[in-house]
Amino acid sequence: MRRLHAPEIEDEPWCPRPLRDACTAFLQVAAERGRFLHQAAPVLQGVLERSGETKVVDLCSGGGGALLSLLERLPREVSATLTDLYPNEAAFRAAELRAPGRVHGRRASVDATDVPDELRGVRTIFNALHHFRPEAARRMVADAVAKGQPFCAFEVVERRPQTMLTISMVPFAVWASAPLQPGFDLFRFLLTYPVPVIPALVWWDGMCSCLRGYSVPELEELVAGLAHEGYRFTISQSRGVFLRVTSLVGEPVRPTAG
Ligand SMILES: C[S@@+](CC[C@H](N)C(=O)[O-])C[C@H]1O[C@@H](n2cnc3c(N)ncnc32)[C@H](O)[C@@H]1O
Repeated sequence: MRRLHAPEIEDEPWCPRPLRDACTAFLQVAAERGRFLHQAAPVLQGVLERSGETKVVDLCSGGGGALLSLLERLPREVSATLTDLYPNEAAFRAAELRAPGRVHGRRASVDATDVPDELRGVRTIFNALHHFRPEAARRMVADAVAKGQPFCAFEVVERRPQTMLTISMVPFAVWASAPLQPGFDLFRFLLTYPVPVIPALVWWDGMCSCLRGYSVPELEELVAGLAHEGYRFTISQSRGVFLRVTSLVGEPVRPTAG
């Protein structure tokens, strides 16, 4: 099946912010409880060690996503800046309170394809690369290469029946986990249980995300020509029956001594 850039509602500028925030708050709790991205921690740690960086610049952070729980698995000196085109302020505040001094949520909008120069560090993007069409995704990676910054993308969405079947169950996860979300209020209660707009929205966007997911060969094509002798890419996919992690890691190559 070819990649299809199906319309995710959360991406649309007209999507009401409280609805988008409810979706990204769910994704944060799901990533944390589901632990499906925990295997990214050693990969990220390796990139941090090889680059000598202690700062992470997280792109498309949503509600903090997988990064918040991964940070707890990384050395204490590692800190992170959360960024998003539509910053989820309540989630950023909750993340800062949870990891004081280690997490800062940037309140100004940051477009992942045009990261401000002052944000330096290992760029991460969890479950959001699929939001970008190939040209924009390539621009995002090219910017990291041009600025000599490491880049790590991790995705679980895929055009694979087992993955799509798993993601299709997501409304049950929304119903089960909603009260655990930071910012869960009467609005979210009403649109989660009596009128299930939020579970439906998360389901729709989840299915569209799968159709938009990049395969390993597509990622190889995406970065073709961007690597040079000072910057290399590693693309891999974990094993798994239902959810697999596809990762794209780009990093500057340090000259070896001698
Ligand atoms: C799937 S959601 C959240 C992903 C989050 N990293 C996680 O793990 O839960 C994708 C996020 O990408 C953001 N986004 C979409 N287009 C963007 C862009 N051009 N620049 C920055 N963020 C963007 C959306 O606002 C949304 O919060």
